[in-house]
Amino acid sequence: MVASLVPKQTIRTRDPKDAAELLRRGGVVAFPTETVYGLGAAIFDQDAIRRVFEVKGRPSDNPLIAHIGKIGQIGLLASELSASAERLVESFFPGPLTIVVKKSEVVPSIATAGLTTIGIRMPKSELALAFLKECGTPVVAPSANISGRPSPTTWQAVLEDLDGRIDCILQGEPTDIGLESSVVDCSVEPPLLLRRGAVSIDELRAVVPSVRELASGETGAEKSPGLRHRHYSPRARVAIGTGLPEGFAGRAAFIGMQTPADVFAECLIVNSAEEYAASLFEFFRKCDRGGVELIVCGPVPETGIGAALMDRIRRAAE
Ligand code: TXA
Ligand code: MG
Repeated sequence: MVASLVPKQTIRTRDPKDAAELLRRGGVVAFPTETVYGLGAAIFDQDAIRRVFEVKGRPSDNPLIAHIGKIGQIGLLASELSASAERLVESFFPGPLTIVVKKSEVVPSIATAGLTTIGIRMPKSELALAFLKECGTPVVAPSANISGRPSPTTWQAVLEDLDGRIDCILQGEPTDIGLESSVVDCSVEPPLLLRRGAVSIDELRAVVPSVRELASGETGAEKSPGLRHRHYSPRARVAIGTGLPEGFAGRAAFIGMQTPADVFAECLIVNSAEEYAASLFEFFRKCDRGGVELIVCGPVPETGIGAALMDRIRRAAE
């Protein structure tokens, strides 16, 4: 057995100092951000980074995002910053945006899965910032779920996937946004939105008008290996709609903004796209715990957070 997969006690704490100390001593530590919980390792600790990949079952070709607690740390990670990248940092850091830029030589290649670029993000959640400042080093972190499962939006969801396999969980509130950050590749011109998130394409273009979206048929997988892998999926089948498919007789659940046409075993009606986004992944997990076989998701208009929400629902439904 791989040493790091030997069961260990996962310490739970609400104190960012304790969590940071464990990370500085080589630990793998889950922490909340405003998007989803991340699973952090110190960026220069290659053993800890290896364990992050192992405990998640994450393919080694999928690069990690470096999380920073101070804008000044960008200079350590990036070898160059385009004018577009600088403008995005000024407007959206700290916040739910990741920029991809050329990496500096000091960044170990295990962190970026061998790519010459690195994703950088400064979360705005106060607890995340307190933790990252205490760490004193950039922290690479994917979402703190088993690969392929819905990202965790509560510390309990982290525990459900990773208890006994990681060193610590920094316990915070359920995350505000509930979907992962927008990822913009600024190593190319014009910059390319690789993953939709809470910062919408319109908000990005208000700052850098040339930002482009992936054309239909373009998966982004050549640029962002994570987009190639199965994602965000509950065990239940996911469908987009407003009622039950013809002839379906199993245990079904519904989430959406409109009351559905049929009766469902589980039903969550939300009042806004924001509330929908914040509830989606936890709803998926609840359905899995309850043995639901089919989750029907009501569609929403693809503006603002609605675009990211429909992206995640479509990926889960694939
Ligand atoms: O909101 C978030 O971004 C959360 C929290 C914890 O910060 N993190 C997160 O990490 O969602 P992860 O590893 O689950 O997703 C990172 C995505 C993947 O699709 C990955 O391929 C892409 O970002 N990515 C990371 N570095 C990249 C790079 N250098 N070039 C292209 N894509 C990159
Ligand atoms: Mg993830």
